[in-house]
Amino acid sequence: MSQTHIPIVAYGPLSPYLEEQLKARFRVHEVAADADPTALDGAVREARALVSFGSVGASAAIMDALPRLEMIGLFSVGYDKVDVAHARKKGIKVSNTPDVLTDDVADLAVGLLYAAVRNIAANDRMARSGKWALGQQVALSGSVTGRRIGILGLGRIGRAIARRLEPVASEIIYHNRRPVAGSPYRYVQDRIAFARESEVIIVATSGGPEAHGLVDAAMLDALGPQGMLINISRGSVVDEDALVAALTEGRIGGAGLDVFVNEPQVPEALFTMDNVVLQPHQGSATINTRKAMADLVLANLDAWAAGKALVTPVI
Ligand code: DGY
Repeated sequence: MSQTHIPIVAYGPLSPYLEEQLKARFRVHEVAADADPTALDGAVREARALVSFGSVGASAAIMDALPRLEMIGLFSVGYDKVDVAHARKKGIKVSNTPDVLTDDVADLAVGLLYAAVRNIAANDRMARSGKWALGQQVALSGSVTGRRIGILGLGRIGRAIARRLEPVASEIIYHNRRPVAGSPYRYVQDRIAFARESEVIIVATSGGPEAHGLVDAAMLDALGPQGMLINISRGSVVDEDALVAALTEGRIGGAGLDVFVNEPQVPEALFTMDNVVLQPHQGSATINTRKAMADLVLANLDAWAAGKALVTPVI
């Protein structure tokens, strides 16, 4: 059965490929991420599905503004910006894009770790500035090899990061709400003890209210002045003010950050810190992965439109 008559909302920017494929399958209404949900026109309000990027998600307000909404196809694995409880209450299905991005996000975490520990971004700036050619000494960095790496959140992405670092880490430890059955890594139940034992913490836990502010000032202090924090999860998992303060006061050694609390805003204080490497939320941003994510969004929408079970349901 043709689906082209089914009205859907493309909410905020998506990839050109996904937009094109959606338009080939559905009647697409584009709605800006900052549009007032209460001011949507009648045709848009007929939409039965909504597709959005993870950073836009779907609030209770947009769900309420689309009275015929049955399905939210999320173009990301993280669904912290979707009011899942509200969707459940309204009987709206939600899908996300797990697995296909795991390797690329894990690669970026490892890249940020190396960049932050080995001062790669700061040294790149130094080389470009010509100061090296003029004879300025380059500061020595720490080493990655031999560090004890702490993974906060040993899920799919956390495990992929751990596997990549096994050959170089002195030990890999992890902290979760509960131990992961069969994991080869040492579980540290207490969050502060975990931070104290870690020489690098890589935040790989999923976001959302339960993880909000998990990495707080006490944890950063336990990580200590030589410790590095890498975050490829969600900005909200880290108390960003506490992080800026800890970096400013030298209470932790440095950071590699792909995610921030108010993206695309980055706390200005971080711009001048040479021990901090910043990325504009690029974890899944490779050609292959974004295509695979788009195809998974489409597979979920096709399944929903055909009345079948979602391929990768959140609910
Ligand atoms: C996701 O898909 O949730 C990731 O944040 C992409 O980087």
